Amino acid sequence: MATYPAKDYSALRGLSGITDEQIEVHLKLYNGYVTRTNALLETLAQTDPSTSAYQELKRRLGWEFNGMRLHEYYFDNLSAGGSGSLAGSAFAAKAAEQYGSVENWQKDFLSTAKAPGIGWTICYLDPANGGLINFWVTEHEQGHPAGLIPVLVCDVFEHAFAVYRKPTDRAPYLDDFFANINWDVVNQRLG
Ligand SMILES: [Fe+2]
Repeated sequence: MATYPAKDYSALRGLSGITDEQIEVHLKLYNGYVTRTNALLETLAQTDPSTSAYQELKRRLGWEFNGMRLHEYYFDNLSAGGSGSLAGSAFAAKAAEQYGSVENWQKDFLSTAKAPGIGWTICYLDPANGGLINFWVTEHEQGHPAGLIPVLVCDVFEHAFAVYRKPTDRAPYLDDFFANINWDVVNQRLG
């Protein structure tokens, strides 16, 4: 059975604002999701599919798998001090087309990311109309729009910033997030 290898983010250090200790703790958490996803898939392969135990394991798979995959999107769209530029990019053009201006898109993204609760804020590309749309995802698995492609992924669980900031400091953490976005990766995801 195929397993999912943990991706190597050892080079992701020296970010603006977000401390190395914060990243190390967060990567440890990410590695836990990878380990549990692989273990869960192995357990499922050895469990009788006609049982309710199997069904409960299937229910848990959405949490563990998305916990793994969303962290990969998140770490992949970060780089120390940011890379590339938003201004003049294909992403900026699409954001302006959909939201009137890049500033309006960012306002929408930040407002979404400040929603009470734990989860993710994700800007998706909708292949059906070529547009961008920001979504709130609760925990790891609730609220993903079907068939859309994640383009910019922001972890807004408190564990993403609680090592170096207070749990109430989501707004300044979001400023730190924006200071470290790898816009080259974001633009590549547009295809
Ligand atoms: Fe996280």
